[in-house]
Amino acid sequence: MKLLRRRCKAYYLGCILTLTIGIIIWTTRIIMGPTKVQFSNVSHKFQPFIQLRNTSFDYREETMKMNEEKVEMDDPRLIELIRNYWIEPPSKEPYNLKKDLEDYSAGQTPYADSRLNHKANGFFIEAGAYDGESSSTSLFFEKYRKWNGLLVEPDPRHYYTIQSKHRKAYRINACLSTKPYPIQVTFNIGHGLREQMGRIHETKEAEEWIQKENIGFTSIKVQCFPLYSLLLAMQVNQVDFFTLDVEGEELHVLKTIPFDKINIGMMTVEYIHSSEEEITRFLEEKGYRKMIKMRTPGCADIIFRKNDIPFIGYE
Ligand SMILES: *[C@@H]1O[C@H](CO)[C@@H](O)[C@H](O)[C@H]1NC(C)=O
Ligand SMILES: *[C@@H]1O[C@H](CO)[C@@H](O)[C@H](O)[C@H]1NC(C)=O
Repeated sequence: MKLLRRRCKAYYLGCILTLTIGIIIWTTRIIMGPTKVQFSNVSHKFQPFIQLRNTSFDYREETMKMNEEKVEMDDPRLIELIRNYWIEPPSKEPYNLKKDLEDYSAGQTPYADSRLNHKANGFFIEAGAYDGESSSTSLFFEKYRKWNGLLVEPDPRHYYTIQSKHRKAYRINACLSTKPYPIQVTFNIGHGLREQMGRIHETKEAEEWIQKENIGFTSIKVQCFPLYSLLLAMQVNQVDFFTLDVEGEELHVLKTIPFDKINIGMMTVEYIHSSEEEITRFLEEKGYRKMIKMRTPGCADIIFRKNDIPFIGYE
């Protein structure tokens, strides 16, 4: 009888304990929100991934909801949405390029390639990717160094051209967000000789720039995602070469990047449409150093490299 009572007591105690722990976990989840997607501090090499698409699911409507909610850039719902619906996989068809070159860039690529000691199997991000060929800083790495990467291009006309080139990189028809959450923006597309010069048209600064550059006002709506969300969606936290050419929004995009969570080895940043000093100061504070200012036809970039990246090759 005594034994039974003791067993009962243990049973009730167990129950109460489980219940208390349950309540604690439950309230923490309510207070803390959904579990965030995060990288461990181990470097994640890119692995091809399988996308799970539900064709009757309206992912654009869901994206709009997340824009309104201003969800955090590591919100798992956002990451799943980008991973499964927004990103498009590399083409399996043979290349359909206009020219058969080694280097398509305006000088940035051979410079970076030599400083990266001709690294194979790296990972790039190119934003904006334009038509996927002209002035492409990533095509050489993809073709000859067998890198993976992501092409980011908001202008649907250029994106359509990228698709026709059968690049062996992932791609997304979106822009990089200038905020640490997803947004839909008004985007001014370029025309004629200035067709590469599409830009987010949300600020007075952008308005004046469009006028000054004589681009003409033709607006479309474009979805933007933070760079960090795109990297989480691809599960890669190591970017070897990042091209940032977004016609004046460079600093705003850079400011959304959590540099303590992802490792960007080298980057080439267009400086001509914004403040060279501010971009340089900002990146120096984040542990980068300026390597070269490149001014060639079709290029007005500064190439930066991370200070603490183990470095083989020559300066
Ligand atoms: C990851 O973090 C742990 C604890 O902070 C540390 O001991 C370990 O060295 C780190 N690993 C790497 C690859 O940085
Ligand atoms: C697909 O999406 C529709 C609409 O949102 C939903 O009702 C359905 O349950 C989804 N199917 C699966 C297998 O998730």
